[in-house]
Amino acid sequence: MEGARPQPTAGREQPTREAALRQPRLHVATHPLIAVQLTLLRAVGTEAPRFRELLGALTTLLGYEALAGLPLAECPIATPLEAMIGAKVAQEIAIVPIMRAGLAMVDPLLRLLPNARVWHLGLYRDEATLRPVPYYNRTMRSGQAAHCIVVDPMLATGGSAISAVELVKEVGAERITYIGIVAAPYGVLRLAEAHPDVDIYVGALDRELNEQGYICPGLGDAGDRVFHTGE
Ligand code: PRP
Ligand code: URA
Repeated sequence: MEGARPQPTAGREQPTREAALRQPRLHVATHPLIAVQLTLLRAVGTEAPRFRELLGALTTLLGYEALAGLPLAECPIATPLEAMIGAKVAQEIAIVPIMRAGLAMVDPLLRLLPNARVWHLGLYRDEATLRPVPYYNRTMRSGQAAHCIVVDPMLATGGSAISAVELVKEVGAERITYIGIVAAPYGVLRLAEAHPDVDIYVGALDRELNEQGYICPGLGDAGDRVFHTGE
């Protein structure tokens, strides 16, 4: 029918938060500082400069949690007093920001992982179909990163995250971590079904998607809020 919008969940009933929380690889933050900063981030009056600052702080906190199991290798050093065996990151890591909004999560992660590669990935959601449309992916190289960290503030229908994970698998990622800020139960379940081997870290698991595929209560259009575009 002309003009009819596809349902964001393609006719499937929206799962509950409880159903999403049963996914064994989903980690929803419980730290009180994350709850406080996320509240400020969501508020409609928070303008772009503050929004970017809060998104950066949240990425650092979530990154710290998501990287708790990072494999280490021995790193022999000498302190001014004696020799010792220290630690270094054992695997090559690539941070994969989904543009646009994922860009705001790169610098905070690079401060934690200064030697990581950054593989920019251009995907936008077609407004009519809600399917991800690829437009930029020129830096991913096979075999260069055993661990990929896909970052994007919003996990809505899950289409963008699923595409990003497919691409990093094609270039040989063995371990994949997804870090998001706000997720919908539907997006979590789709990502977990498509890629059950991915660890999903998010700041909050919200109630549902609306008819336009926006997360509710959510925070609106993340890319527009980061880059001061849109209405
Ligand atoms: C937003 C967001 C995600 C995607 C999530 O980007 O940053 O990439 O939507 O939606 P999904 O889970 O349903 O795929 P958008 O497509 O608006 O791109 P933009 O930031 O470039 O405008
Ligand atoms: N993309 C956004 O930026 N926000 C949403 O709520 C859903 C998709």
